[in-house]
Amino acid sequence: MFFGRGVNSRVGEELASDGFSSVLLLYGGASVKAAGVYDEVVRSLAGHGVRFFECGGVKPNPSVSKLREAIGIIRSNEIEAIVAAGGGSVIDSAKGISAGVRYDGDVWDFYSRKAQVGPVMPFYAVATVSATASEMNCTSVVTDDETEVKTGLTDFALFPSKTFIDPSAQFSVPVKQIADGGIDAVCHVMETYFDGTPDVDLQMEYAEGLVRSLLELIPKAAANPRDYEIRAQYAWAAACALNGTTWAGHSGKGDFASHAMGHALSAKYDAVHGETLSIVMPNWMRYVMHGNLYAFARFARRVFGVDSPSDEDAAREGIERVSEFFRSLGAPLRLREIGVPEEDLEDLARKAAPGSGVGSLKKLGVSDVLDIYKASY
Ligand code: NZQ
Ligand code: ZN
Repeated sequence: MFFGRGVNSRVGEELASDGFSSVLLLYGGASVKAAGVYDEVVRSLAGHGVRFFECGGVKPNPSVSKLREAIGIIRSNEIEAIVAAGGGSVIDSAKGISAGVRYDGDVWDFYSRKAQVGPVMPFYAVATVSATASEMNCTSVVTDDETEVKTGLTDFALFPSKTFIDPSAQFSVPVKQIADGGIDAVCHVMETYFDGTPDVDLQMEYAEGLVRSLLELIPKAAANPRDYEIRAQYAWAAACALNGTTWAGHSGKGDFASHAMGHALSAKYDAVHGETLSIVMPNWMRYVMHGNLYAFARFARRVFGVDSPSDEDAAREGIERVSEFFRSLGAPLRLREIGVPEEDLEDLARKAAPGSGVGSLKKLGVSDVLDIYKASY
């Protein structure tokens, strides 16, 4: 991990010292060039004799079709490694590409659980926006537009070889994107905190501190987009929110039913990931809180300073405070605000909870998910 001002100019040197001379440079839209990251990386590659081919146009909520396109470019050009310069969407795509390029079948097979990840092509992550922690974890979330399925793939082989985070490259991230990404990071901590694992006091303390920091840093970053110290602290906090440190010692890797419900919305309407969570997560919390009232009340007291003596009241107030925080960032709290037609809710519920259902605190089937969507409407 390379963290700090100017680290992106070390990409070429690191690739060359790892023995690579030809890479695919993967990126999204105009932001990577506007932020100066593209030029910095390209200069650094050229300075160390690393040839590069380009694949731009990865869009937010990345599509598997772009992964297939990139795999084709790699196969026809003797490319040895991938440099992913962008946010979660670009880095997630690089993970799928790195697995798909050394696999005979279609890359979607990994996401549909038809195949397991085997040999991978090394990839390097240059994070231009901090939110998902994709730059520091081994999960890739991709959409198949044809079937309207957005799903995650997690495999230890999918960690970046090296990660570069220059907080100053994020000065240009729009305020709306800071809010969306910040909400995502807060939800990542909550997904694990409330998953029902008993006797993990230290982990709960860590998670509470992390959320308190995020609640302070996100509005500060939005108000001071070019403040390096705030950006740097936020970038680190967002990475820690889903880099594995919160779920160490937990019996699973978090609940993530809210994420599944969010992904169904993104797959069908291209909804922004953070917006799906600001809508769904508080309603999930209300739906499942009695399965772990201790944690919901503790969270309210330690994160928001709620002083109600009743666990039930404290838990409910804590959930209200979460919603109020999301609203203070301008995020939607209702499905109707993002234009979801009410008649689609049943179809969405079927897609969000396939097979045996989703979640770990409470396993949610289609009818549970439908109830939560209705409460979110
Ligand atoms: O389109 P471009 O021009 O590239 O602009 C992007 C994009 O529009 C912009 N952006 C990025 N860096 C910028 C910038 N704008 C100005 N200055 C910069 N320096 O930000 C917009 C959003 O980019 P995206 O990569 O989609 O955002 P994010 O990092 O929030 O990633 C979201 C994706 O990650 C998935 C989400 O589902 C979603 O598809 N997730 C990945 C996870 C993981 N790998 O562990 C877990 C998460 O829960 C999440 O599911
Ligand atoms: Zn997320």
